[in-house]
Amino acid sequence: MNDQTPWEDPAESRIASERVLVLDFGSQYAQLIARRVREQHVFCEIVRHDLPVEQIQKHAPRGLILSGGPSSVYDRAAPTCDERLFHMGVPVLGICYGMQLACQALGGNVDRSEAREYGPRRCQVLAACELFAGIPEALDVWMSHGDQVARVSDDFVPLARTATCPIAAVKHVRLPIYGLQFHPEVTHTPLGGMILRNFLMSACGCRGTWRLGDFAAETVQRVRANVGDARVICGLSGGVDSSVTAALLYLAIGSQLSCILVDNGLLRKDEKAAVIAEFSNHFRADLHVVQAEEKFLAELKGVTDPQEKRRRIGRCFIECFADEATRIKDARFLAQGTLYPDVIESGAAADGPAATIKLHHNVGGLPADLGFELIEPLRDLFKDEVRKLGVELGLPDDIVWRHPFPGPGLAVRCLGEVSRERLEVLREADAIVVHEIKAAGLYRDTAQVFVVLLPVHSVGVMGDARTYENAVVIRCVNTDDFMTADWSRLPYEVLARISSRIINEVQGVNRVCYDISSKPPATIEWE
Ligand code: XMP
Repeated sequence: MNDQTPWEDPAESRIASERVLVLDFGSQYAQLIARRVREQHVFCEIVRHDLPVEQIQKHAPRGLILSGGPSSVYDRAAPTCDERLFHMGVPVLGICYGMQLACQALGGNVDRSEAREYGPRRCQVLAACELFAGIPEALDVWMSHGDQVARVSDDFVPLARTATCPIAAVKHVRLPIYGLQFHPEVTHTPLGGMILRNFLMSACGCRGTWRLGDFAAETVQRVRANVGDARVICGLSGGVDSSVTAALLYLAIGSQLSCILVDNGLLRKDEKAAVIAEFSNHFRADLHVVQAEEKFLAELKGVTDPQEKRRRIGRCFIECFADEATRIKDARFLAQGTLYPDVIESGAAADGPAATIKLHHNVGGLPADLGFELIEPLRDLFKDEVRKLGVELGLPDDIVWRHPFPGPGLAVRCLGEVSRERLEVLREADAIVVHEIKAAGLYRDTAQVFVVLLPVHSVGVMGDARTYENAVVIRCVNTDDFMTADWSRLPYEVLARISSRIINEVQGVNRVCYDISSKPPATIEWE
């Protein structure tokens, strides 16, 4: 990750005027909390749970949210926070584990509940508090905990209870510290958004000034100031992240932008032409298309191991990109479409207990030592925010709502050895699926849809003749975050049309299957 990104410094940014930090104690919901806060137009970042107060102060937060987490506060190895934060005068909201931690630090007792409580509960509000302003006396909440606060000192007022959890919410009598045993960030707590809003607006005094439009304008200004009259290179893949990055840069520096599209021969049908057409419709910037199909195919010859495919494709991509980049005169900066979840997952921001490293997903990225200064204008945004930004910047729906496509492209969907002929079969079948899903109006309702070509042949009969041809699998999933996913319940008629078209129109395929595995335990891609 790049430490020197100039807009990392929150100093005079309007974003910084209303910033809330989520201290991550390993919650599966930490990102969700951050998104919910941003939905209230308050900028929010996830930081590690033990960030020292001096570092917290540098962010000048209006409020702190202590997330939930899988540990028990009384375990010796349990993640803790710098307890001085409770005395900073900055409002604190502890959620689940976060509440238990706050109560324990300030004079309460946390015990294991008699039964682990998981699921919907009816919650009774006991005392008036700004957190529950406008909330009825009884509300539905979502619980997920094994421990709970059993007793609090006189410094805390219990605010709510459920049948099994006598202290379901608390407020400190002198300090601006609040706790919720339930999860306001999940949709199963229908009034959770209002409770979070009350915390942000009433307790923290936020006004909700963060807007994506402002973000775009600020980013454009900062890019201009930072780049001066130097040239910036941006890799283009046709995906929403790189397109929005290019659009922002184009707004900022116009013709000082050079884009590079590497045609690795592993793209979808007509994709290269579509990217070039969209690019020239929207920008009058310099576009370099590197024709590298032969080079990639040669590299992949005889390779069947998925990780080896990824390694070779990654290496080849870097070589092609770097080679082209060195031909671009005066290039000093390299723009990348890194998103906030990438920053968190790579451990650069959170480095917390929930941070996982998905190394293989970095394939298609570029190493930090290419000799350019990095610009990552989207590194504070979630995917849905990038899409909204794309709409604001006037990018067409086709780009903004395009399903993600992996860096190694069709190679990881062509199981076994990758060859020009096999890629052609896969490409044709894939184009039919995408077309039919769009025609059925299902593209926006699904997160990813594609075809996998299996390395097996199956027996069939066509006319009076026996066939022995390829089998393909349709993979279609629904997911928000791509970390978990469910297979899409596509209507039978759509599946039937897809199957019939593939078998009739794609030479070399005589069998179509539908993948009904969820993630986990399966992954979205087959390799
Ligand atoms: P899995 O298969 O891990 O995929 O469930 C989750 C998401 O990541 C994409 N993916 C990749 N993206 N390089 C990429 O740029 C890769 O090597 C890679 N592998 C998986 C996948 O398409 C899905 O969106």
